[in-house]
Amino acid sequence: MATIRLGDKAPDFTADSSMGTINFYDYLGDGWGILFSHPADFTPVCTTELGTAAKFKDEFDKRNVKMLALSVDGASSHAEWIKDINEVQNTTVNFPIIADEDKKVSDLYDMIHPNADNNLTVRSVFIIAPDKTVKLIITYPASTGRNFYELLRVVDSLQLTAYHKVATPANWKKGENVVVSPAISTEDAKGIFSKGVEEVKPYLRMTPDPTA
Ligand code: BEZ
Repeated sequence: MATIRLGDKAPDFTADSSMGTINFYDYLGDGWGILFSHPADFTPVCTTELGTAAKFKDEFDKRNVKMLALSVDGASSHAEWIKDINEVQNTTVNFPIIADEDKKVSDLYDMIHPNADNNLTVRSVFIIAPDKTVKLIITYPASTGRNFYELLRVVDSLQLTAYHKVATPANWKKGENVVVSPAISTEDAKGIFSKGVEEVKPYLRMTPDPTA
């Protein structure tokens, strides 16, 4: 069992999946990645999540984010389950699901929380930057399906703040005003952000989304 924190290098692994053997780093290439775990195959919430994830793949692709799911069942079980997901969700699961029967990857990423369940993974989400550092970790219980709009929203924030000296405020969505990084003086900010800087308070300066 490993504890992974923000800024750590994402552990690499090679594992079987619904699309054959995958080496994580090779799969990510030089793009971003989202790794998300599911408690088990043939479970209702996971079925809705994977169908939804498949429908969001184009949006993750646009953001250069490779999707990789994980469940603690085997590849042949995944293959049967994917047929159900495609049928009931009216979609095509178009990214790999790791077959983690021996829980090697689940352990590596601390996806099993024994006080929640000894055998099943919780709903972990890891977002990984092109330098392979972990930029975001979210953990949901098995009883709560994830919101994929929120996952896209945090990708937008992570990608914006990786390349611009800004942070994103509460409930921010791509295109809305952002916060100037506290590390920059207001005077310097006015030189950097050509769309203007509003000083609401000396520590709270807003500027339009520099990419909008
Ligand atoms: C589900 O995906 O529906 C689920 C899995 C494990 C426990 C509870 C719900």
